[in-house]
Amino acid sequence: MSSMEQKDKKILCVGLVCLDIISVVDKYPEEDTDSRCVSQRWQRGGNASNSCTVLSLLGSPCAFMGSLCAGPVASFILEDFQKLNVDMSLVSEHAQCVTPTSLVISSRSTGSRTILHINRNVPDVTAEDFSKVDLRHFKWIHWEGRNADEQLKMIQRVARYNSTLPQQQQRITISVEIEKPREPLYQLFAHGDVVFVSKDVARHFGFQTPLSALEGLRCRVKAGAVLICAWAEKGADALAPDGSLVHSEAFPPERLVDTLGAGDTFNAAVIHKLSNGARLEDALTFGCAVAGSKCGFHGYDGVADMATGKDWKRVGSAEDI
Ligand code: ADP
Ligand code: FRU
Repeated sequence: MSSMEQKDKKILCVGLVCLDIISVVDKYPEEDTDSRCVSQRWQRGGNASNSCTVLSLLGSPCAFMGSLCAGPVASFILEDFQKLNVDMSLVSEHAQCVTPTSLVISSRSTGSRTILHINRNVPDVTAEDFSKVDLRHFKWIHWEGRNADEQLKMIQRVARYNSTLPQQQQRITISVEIEKPREPLYQLFAHGDVVFVSKDVARHFGFQTPLSALEGLRCRVKAGAVLICAWAEKGADALAPDGSLVHSEAFPPERLVDTLGAGDTFNAAVIHKLSNGARLEDALTFGCAVAGSKCGFHGYDGVADMATGKDWKRVGSAEDI
């Protein structure tokens, strides 16, 4: 392959794709009652898959790497990826498996999303699968923390590749998301250039604010890394490579409608900005603006307005980002 310009390279997201069956209700139901939904829909879900959706809507060419099953649900997922121009060439098919599925109750009165997820038998991407990836096509690779032992091997392959490159700008940026409070995932802290840690994990460690989470967890990331902690209506905080701290307020929508995938949207918007050379504070503000705006509508389609700037007014001071 002739040398590819960094700007023409893609962002790769490695992780889960699943089916989200979303029931929108006026009010979260009582246990053992029989109530009616306002609406019901299927949506492609999974953190890495949602982040690809948002990256694509924002105008960042991207690819998804994960496992797909066969049958009508898989076709629905595949068509949706294609509609959004997400490169699917690294997807591995597991014809004999059952598509992971989430039942989601989305409450109109609070904007809350309650998720019931099942993954019967779909395997995660392995280091062996990843060894076949032509790294020259990518400028940024993002891992949704899952099978961390294998993911560590993938990251080490990228680090070795980076060390062979002559120019700093050609390096692949490595980002990881540590979303679930699971011990094996914590080894990923030390290996990301950019590390997203969730409020769930932060709380699990005993932190009550994003700032205290950064103070408490900064010893786990490598020197010069960025550590980011998003926290719903508190916005997000980040530790910069020079050790300084950056904060963005949240941008609450006029009405909280759908918080499903707010974190995935935030991650994608931050990656979109950073991969285009933005300053950390601007990327953080943009992440909160896009994720906050997303909470004001169902699904992700409205994110496209954020890319064109059409929707800046609705998010107030993000207008000049
Ligand atoms: P998740 O629980 O989906 O992982 P978070 O709650 O951490 O996501 O939120 C990610 C980002 O989405 C936050 O930093 C914030 O910018 C935005 N966000 C989420 N919930 C709200 C809300 N209720 N009001 C405003 N912004 C929100
Ligand atoms: C949102 C999401 C959903 C999926 C669930 C899996 O962040 O990715 O789309 O059902 O989380 O945990």
